[in-house]
Parts: sequence; C-alpha cells; structure tokens
Amino acid sequence: MSTEGLQAMLDTAVTAARHAGRLQKERLWGEFTFSFKGEVDIVTEVDRACEELIVSRIRAAFPDHSFLAEENLYDGGDPAWRWVIDPLDGTTNYAHGFPWFCVSIALEHEGELALGVIYHCMMDELFTAVRGGGAFLNGRPIRVSSRTPLRHSLIATGFPYDAARGNENNFRNFFELQLAARGVRRAGAAALDLAYVAAGRLDGYWECKLKPWDVAAGALLVREAGGMVTNHKGEPHRVGDHRILASNGLIHEEIEALLERAEKPTPLL
Ligand code: IPD
Ligand code: CA
Ligand code: CA
Repeated sequence: MSTEGLQAMLDTAVTAARHAGRLQKERLWGEFTFSFKGEVDIVTEVDRACEELIVSRIRAAFPDHSFLAEENLYDGGDPAWRWVIDPLDGTTNYAHGFPWFCVSIALEHEGELALGVIYHCMMDELFTAVRGGGAFLNGRPIRVSSRTPLRHSLIATGFPYDAARGNENNFRNFFELQLAARGVRRAGAAALDLAYVAAGRLDGYWECKLKPWDVAAGALLVREAGGMVTNHKGEPHRVGDHRILASNGLIHEEIEALLERAEKPTPLL
C-alpha cells in the first residue's frame, strides 16, 4: 500500500467524518425521530443519515472496498479493504441532548487496522492515526500520559445496554476500579474514551460487550500514541474482541489484575 494511497483514504475518511459531524451539530437539540433496537437502546434518524452520508462518500472514492457499519448491512466489496464505521457513537447522549458523541471511522487492510479517524464535532476535535505514522489531534502529535500508579489515574468505562438483564454487566469491575483509581468516568461514547486515552486526558479505559465499530479507530489511535490495547486477559486486542482494556501501558497490569479478580466466577455456596 503506497503512502499516497493511504493518505487519499485518510483524506476521504476525514472529509466524511467532518461532514457527518456538521450534520450532528446542526440537528442536536432539534426535532428528530428515533426507534428502539432493544429494550433501552435506540437509533435516531441522525445515526442513519450520518451512516448513509459516510458510506456513500467513501464508496464514491473507493467503490471496490467493503463495509462493516453499525446501522446497515453492506454486501459485497473486497474484504481485503474493510471500512469499520460507527456513524454516531454516543447515541443515548445524542438523543437526550447531552453533547458528548462522535463519528468513528477505521479502515482495515488484510485484517490489520490501517487508519482511524474520530471526530468530536462539539469540540471541533479531529483525532487521526495511520498505522506506523503516530496519532494526531487537529494535526498535532499526541501521546498517552505517563501517569502512574493507578491510584493517581483517571480512567473510564461504559456499561452495556442490557446491563439490567445480562450477567456481563461490568458492575463488579466498576466497583473494584472505582475503589482503586483516582476516578472513573462514564461519559457514554466508547470511541471518545479511547481517543482521550490516546491524547493523555485519560490514563486508561476498559469496557465489555463492545462491537467492532465502537473500538476500531480508537484502538489504533491508542497504539499509535504509544499506549497499550488488549483484551481483559492481557492478550493483544483484535477488532472483533468484545472486551477491551486500553491504557498508557504503565497502569495496564494493575487494571488487568483487578479485572481478572472481578471477573472470576464466584463459587456457588
Ligand atoms: C455505545 C457507546 C457507549 C458504550 C456502549 C456502546 P452507541 O455506542 O459507545 O459508550 O458504553 O456499549 O454501544 O450505541 O452510542 O453507538
Ligand atoms: Ca458505538
Ligand atoms: Ca452508534
């Protein structure tokens, strides 16, 4: 893959992300319809409109590529080039007028992340990374923090939509980590949590039951910013993994040990 080719793909992803971000900002606090996907999780017409806009822009530039996006199935395309898209990460926030959400676009080449773009329109912050080329915020290089130990660290997490019903609800993990860290934030947009780890604004982040589009771009950003991204057992994170642990690397083992303890099945009495 040539550098120019990759740059053209990054430029296309950036344009699409900015365009979708503009739409999100314009329509926030206005009227829009939504429908239920599950008992509590919803999808708004803005999610769908953003996905349509992003996919059509990328398709126009790269008609042979394939797509994995949250709101629709896209058949065909060359599986060697796969775009992984969350058109609006933080839908619950968006629907409630809580201005914390973003666009997340990643591209995989032969199963490896090649580029990632996360755009937070309310702050006009664009996070970008190309594999091997570092991570950037509005064009300036970013690095993970050097903070340690966990006791002095600010970390983040999230909870699955079915937390009230499923066993994998992250509550025990949250309990352990909240006691061990300086603070745990739960802002409601996984991609932004990862972008913030990359930018050194958060020192770590973990979550369960995530989908590829929640984490693809953010995982590359964290790695390219010098951080570490694994599953909860310390194995390298793959885009299809449901559990993620991302950090500055320095507090990784501390978080991992606490997650392992919390996730150990409790013996029945
Ligand atoms: C959700 C957000 C949230 C996370 C959920 C995700 P969505 O994505 O990233 O932070 O806790 O697990 O599903 O539905 O807003 O795109
Ligand atoms: Ca998401
Ligand atoms: Ca979404």
